Amino acid sequence: MRRLFPLSPESSPSAYEDREWSLDELADAYAYPAGGSGGWLRANMVSSLDGAAHHGGRSQPLSSAADMRIFGVLRALADAIVVGAETVRQEGYRPARAREAFAARRAAAGQAPAPVIAVISASLDLDFTAPLFTAPLVRTLLLTGDGAVPERIAAARAAGAEVVIAGAGNRVDPARAVAELAERGLTRLLTEGGPKLLGQFASAGVLDEVCLSLAPLVASGDASRITNGPVLVEPERFALASVLEESGFLFTRYRRA
Ligand SMILES: NC(=O)c1ccc[n+]([C@@H]2O[C@H](COP(=O)([O-])OP(=O)(O)OC[C@H]3O[C@@H](n4cnc5c(N)ncnc54)[C@H](OP(=O)(O)O)[C@@H]3O)[C@@H](O)[C@H]2O)c1
Repeated sequence: MRRLFPLSPESSPSAYEDREWSLDELADAYAYPAGGSGGWLRANMVSSLDGAAHHGGRSQPLSSAADMRIFGVLRALADAIVVGAETVRQEGYRPARAREAFAARRAAAGQAPAPVIAVISASLDLDFTAPLFTAPLVRTLLLTGDGAVPERIAAARAAGAEVVIAGAGNRVDPARAVAELAERGLTRLLTEGGPKLLGQFASAGVLDEVCLSLAPLVASGDASRITNGPVLVEPERFALASVLEESGFLFTRYRRA
């Protein structure tokens, strides 16, 4: 892996050489900004060159070993991973792991050994017998609206999930979701999509950072791009923060300008 941006004239040539990065180096490179009690929402998504956010309903065909390594590091830095129910269903989400390599860093940051998984759902049509709900290291959160079906709420609670009402009707309000998580001390937020959820965070103006892995693949077809939601009146500007490269994959990081 090598750094393509930012390049600084003062840096030694070794800063840019193509080599294996340690998990600590990656964690430093992707550190959340310090301070702020309102929550920082980072998205991590992979896209093909032609904009496909999945291939055959899964993101794995677009990914690579380096992409999965960064995916794991971003998880290890987060207080909570916010994910849409369809991604949970399609990708068979499991509880996040506690990783020895990040134990000291998480303890020093006052974080639980593993991030909380926060699932966003209107229908609550989820498999509550799955380990994501019955056997997580830290209790899974389920964010839904105040009109969600009471029987499904009861089933989620019986399975062990904490149900958080974060919107009216059966919809979750994206800004309220971020606020509800921040109220629980979960401010370093990572969303792994999917596109429908990410589109809503983007149009609600609460997306602070986009970590986009650009895969050197052309997929064609009609897969959604990384956001699939209400159009913004004016496209929002993001500023390039960093670019890493490995095997033709670009690991970009943009922050809201
Ligand atoms: N390229 C990548 O990095 C990446 C990342 C993640 C996923 N993916 C791919 O994306 C696909 C799934 O994404 P998707 O866009 O179809 O779905 P998604 O965003 O993962 O989930 C959509 C679902 O989330 C719930 N939801 C979203 N917004 C809500 C709101 N405001 N209030 C209440 N519930 C809300 C609803 O769940 P209910 O239906 O339960 O009501 C909705 O059906 C999969 O193929 C996956 O492989 C790709």
